[in-house]
Amino acid sequence: VDNHVDNLKNNPQIVEAANLLKQNEIIAFPTETVYGLGANATSDEAIAKVYEAKGRPSDNPLIVHIANFSQLHALVLEIPEKAEKLMKEFWPGPLTIIFKVRPGFLSKKVTAGLDTVGIRMPDHPLALSLIKAANLPVAAPSANSSGKPSPTTAKHVHEDLFGQIAGILDGGETGIGVESTVVDCTVEVPIILRPGGVTKEAMESVIGKVEIDPALNENLKSKPKAPGMKYTHYAPNAPVYLVNGTPEFIQVLVKKSREEGLVVGVIATDETADLYDADYVRACGSRQDLSTVANRLYDTLRSFNSKNVDIIYSEVFSTEGVGLAVMNRLEKAAGHKWIYENDLTK
Ligand code: TXA
Ligand code: MG
Repeated sequence: VDNHVDNLKNNPQIVEAANLLKQNEIIAFPTETVYGLGANATSDEAIAKVYEAKGRPSDNPLIVHIANFSQLHALVLEIPEKAEKLMKEFWPGPLTIIFKVRPGFLSKKVTAGLDTVGIRMPDHPLALSLIKAANLPVAAPSANSSGKPSPTTAKHVHEDLFGQIAGILDGGETGIGVESTVVDCTVEVPIILRPGGVTKEAMESVIGKVEIDPALNENLKSKPKAPGMKYTHYAPNAPVYLVNGTPEFIQVLVKKSREEGLVVGVIATDETADLYDADYVRACGSRQDLSTVANRLYDTLRSFNSKNVDIIYSEVFSTEGVGLAVMNRLEKAAGHKWIYENDLTK
């Protein structure tokens, strides 16, 4: 990978994209999770363009991307021992670590006024070579319009941001498909603020106990610590219902809705898609391997908008491993609307 990255540094498209970043323009680039919308993290002017293009609320801080461990010291005040262990194990990779920010270097708009900053080293040759060529810390939220599912292809970025950004580096489909895990390491027991590509189980095997932000389970009751988690996200235009029940039960719901004259969509799996008779059925991956569901989830959610469905019923998954990230995104897409097959209160 290192050779590959160093060769790419001189690639004309990488050089052009890096120059745009240095001129405080904003460009989209692939990472192993989703496409990011990159900007010079030291420039107020560049960061203002990111918030503007995405329509992102200014109280939602951005993640800073680096390509070398040596870039870290200018950005953070201290590196706690557990953070160091996590970095060594999972960087480059889908893990964003929250540190105490070192004042004076980054644009204050990056951290949205917080005294902490989220940093990650992405595991993608185009992202790494771009950051190296620009020789800057690169702030990059997901390259979608605020509220839409994150982009996993250059086409998704184009759909949302065409005309508002200086360019897109096209690296094909992203691998993981859901965003990085965000973990707060400014506290004694690290807390997962957003589940993602690196699982809780994998982190615990390296540093022992890791907690999950209670706001992720008890949504709305307590204030989420990752400001971004309080906004509606990932939502298709039609309402999504999460159904805890068998495919046969889901088909009963589908039939009833169609009899009411609705156009009905189903988020199914490779194993179950054939069991449904609906207007649009989309298999979002295999139950045998939830990483395939993570990979296809956002494209699946986006696909319903072009099918003009009125209502979407979705199968649900276990919250083990990457299933925690998948269910977190599905819950947000559904606005936490659940239907239970064994609901005895009705
Ligand atoms: O995989 C990813 O993380 C992608 C790719 C492009 O790297 N980026 C991404 O960025 O998902 P964004 O901006 O869409 O999501 C960043 C999340 C938000 O929920 C934000 O609130 C949280 O990280 N965050 C950023 N800085 C934070 C901080 N200092 N404290 C707490 N949460 C923070
Ligand atoms: Mg995002």
